[in-house]
Amino acid sequence: MASTEQASNAALITGGSRGIGYELAKLCAQDGYDLVLVARQQERLQKVANQLESEWEITTLPISKDLSHPESTQEIFDEVERKDTQIDLLVNNAAARPTPDRFDETDLESTSDLLQINVTTLTSLTRLFVAPMVERGAGQILNVSSVAGEIPDPTFGVYAATKGYVSTLSQVLARQLEPVGITVTVLVPGWTETDMAQQVFQALEIDPDTRETMSPEEVAQAGYNGLQSGQTRVIPGQQYREALQNALSTRASNINPGRQ
Ligand SMILES: NC(=O)c1ccc[n+]([C@@H]2O[C@H](COP(=O)([O-])OP(=O)(O)OC[C@H]3O[C@@H](n4cnc5c(N)ncnc54)[C@H](OP(=O)(O)O)[C@@H]3O)[C@@H](O)[C@H]2O)c1
Repeated sequence: MASTEQASNAALITGGSRGIGYELAKLCAQDGYDLVLVARQQERLQKVANQLESEWEITTLPISKDLSHPESTQEIFDEVERKDTQIDLLVNNAAARPTPDRFDETDLESTSDLLQINVTTLTSLTRLFVAPMVERGAGQILNVSSVAGEIPDPTFGVYAATKGYVSTLSQVLARQLEPVGITVTVLVPGWTETDMAQQVFQALEIDPDTRETMSPEEVAQAGYNGLQSGQTRVIPGQQYREALQNALSTRASNINPGRQ
């Protein structure tokens, strides 16, 4: 991606090579966004970038990075700066998946990678890319959380806690940054038919037939619509909106005001 003039908008999507991220990349491409796509597998990333470039009149910059490496965020930012690309939309989509182990049996290194990708990398990418947005007084951020982050379900362990962080941070930033022209939207999907869901079904020994799933296209479209209409929180699927509403009511009725 190169430009002597910065004419078009550009979106940076982490995990844009598969699943929900790929569907979001397609929607952005349709709307004429140039794309910076980040994922680990170079070959797949390049294939997706070529496909989107040939289908839509856009330019792409595929960046192959492992987001579990702390230095990756600054490297991505520097590469984007070197190409003189202005990021108008940041999509923090890539995440590490939940593992089946009980907390005391988890491998510390994997937990640390999970925290790095889902929490620290997301926060530092946002911090790096929001600064120029604030300078311009315009920009959009879409963070992908999970229904698991809103209901403390033990099945999802530390992953659930990281997604709780993503949801809370997004809502805090939406209010903090709205006065300076930045919108922040959090997408809260339930089970979505992607590689990640398949791996989680397998690892946690969940029968997929017992779960109501959505397609990545539907989830991405809901998130994208919400983003474009300036919504702060998007929960795709009536069944998941109801599940969250019920969980919230149960939690509210469990609050004991206690003694003063
Ligand atoms: N699927 C669900 O049921 C579900 C439900 C709720 C929330 N979500 C959330 O939705 C988001 C997308 O999930 P998905 O289901 O679409 O996943 P997916 O189909 O497995 O795709 C994950 C994407 O992220 C990239 N990625 C994974 N680990 C990475 C790393 N360490 N560094 C850089 N890139 C990495 C992958 O490419 P490489 O493998 O090449 O790196 C791929 O492009 C995640 O935040 C997830 O937590 C998913």
